[in-house]
Amino acid sequence: MRVCVIGTGYVGLVTGACLSHIGHDVICVDNNEEKVKLMKAGRSPIFEPGLSEIMQSAIEAGRIQFTTDIAAGVAHGEILFIAVGTPPLPTGESDTRYVEAVARSIGTHLNGGYKVIVNKSTVPIGSGDWVRMIVLDGIAERQKTLVTPGAGASEQKLPVSDADFDVVSNPEFLREGSAVYDTFNPDRIVLGGNSTRATDLMKKLYAPIVERQFAEDKSLPQVPVLVTDLSSAEMIKYAANAFLATKISFVNEVANICDRVGADVTQVAKGIGLDSRIGNKFLQAGIGWGGSCFPKDVSALVHTADDYGYEAQLLKSAVSVNQRQRLIALEKLQQALKILKGKTVGLLGLTFKPDTDDMRDAPALNLIEQLNRLGAKVKAYDPIVSQSGMRDGLSGVLVETDPERLADGCDALVLVTDWKQFSSLDYGKMAKLMVNPVMIDGRNFLDPETMVRAGFKYIGVGRSS
Ligand code: NAD
Ligand code: UGA
Repeated sequence: MRVCVIGTGYVGLVTGACLSHIGHDVICVDNNEEKVKLMKAGRSPIFEPGLSEIMQSAIEAGRIQFTTDIAAGVAHGEILFIAVGTPPLPTGESDTRYVEAVARSIGTHLNGGYKVIVNKSTVPIGSGDWVRMIVLDGIAERQKTLVTPGAGASEQKLPVSDADFDVVSNPEFLREGSAVYDTFNPDRIVLGGNSTRATDLMKKLYAPIVERQFAEDKSLPQVPVLVTDLSSAEMIKYAANAFLATKISFVNEVANICDRVGADVTQVAKGIGLDSRIGNKFLQAGIGWGGSCFPKDVSALVHTADDYGYEAQLLKSAVSVNQRQRLIALEKLQQALKILKGKTVGLLGLTFKPDTDDMRDAPALNLIEQLNRLGAKVKAYDPIVSQSGMRDGLSGVLVETDPERLADGCDALVLVTDWKQFSSLDYGKMAKLMVNPVMIDGRNFLDPETMVRAGFKYIGVGRSS
């Protein structure tokens, strides 16, 4: 099928590359010329495991193109994905201006023939109908420019074929760092809409994934496809993220109680996670949730509830537990070092989670700001940031090129991101290079006994026993 994906970030580029990998003919559109130049040269502008490889093979097969020309994209696609960002406004609402610009532009360039316009971006509930309205506005605007002076009202009417489209909500559930894997191995596919013609086309698009042709385990049963109305699909996305974020805030609250009563939250999480009604995922206590989605999506849902006269008390609490948790490492540093002014603190990891280069709303940024405010010197090592130009964009932190240079002269280390490679560093050597070998393990990622043997005073989150 012919597909156009507009917005080539973590979601759009992965979606475009994976759809071309399963045999579709894809055009990816982005208004960032630098990104398009990179992608045309076969390079991914983001770090995502496995993405470069599938991009390369799709380019070689001639099934993917990259352009800044949205008109070409709209002309090409029978399915048009909107996958641009919906960042938070200072009020907590979702900033939908990029979606609006793309929807208007789709309307301006619709060229006849039936099209399915897919909201892949995470958008406020009600956006499906709103996008339809904006697309129609776009068509009307173009129509005005086509009208010749003196033409009658009837000539201003749209050819029906130009307005022949449906809007579908197809929320995305991929995680950064495993986005390609998640796309080929989804837990479910959600399609919201009121047109069977549109949802049937979407089912056809995803058939190879539903049938597990590209899954790691091909013997698994088919991927469930849930067809709902537009608003329910939009709500599913927010509710899923809000539930996961709340689950983490819950375990972080349990960890804080564990710290006070001398229990170990990693054992508690294991013990409760074995109950199949609870499940063992998203029970890893630590320095709080960050990234480009949980914080903005929970806030947006709280805001939507407010707009409709309901105070989302549980979600507000999940947010405030998280805001406090984001400073837990600072609290622990103060307990261990007392005065932070003049001390040097080294951060192991900067990105909001491993296997990504994404720094949006990363807990490390709060920590750097607060440590600077208290007069501490901050250094950091991150497997991705240290090797890339990203380090130049960071202020208040000296980015080192390897873990040992990081440890040298530090009064404490804080493990901020649970990068796999941090499980096998030479911690014995690092401890010897430090003024004061304190390890705050913000992700409960390291083995406490191994760290003590390496010479560290080990402090986890909710592991005081
Ligand atoms: P992103 O910021 O990484 O990428 C957005 C892209 O859209 C950028 O490349 C930008 O240049 C491009 N863009 C903006 N305006 C444009 C326009 N008018 N025309 C063409 N391109 C334009 O965003 P993302 O992280 O991929 O997220 C996209 C959406 O998907 C958001 O709504 C987000 O909430 C949702 N989502 C993200 C994830 C994730 O893991 N990042 C997962 C699920 C859902
Ligand atoms: C999250 C969801 O998991 C995806 O399903 C969703 O599509 C995506 O948001 C989105 O809407 O953008 P992502 O933000 O990439 O994906 O990463 P997660 O693995 O969910 O981690 C989010 C944050 O929670 C990270 O800061 C992570 O360190 C933290 N986390 C996660 C914990 O503190 N404990 C856990 O047990 C799990």
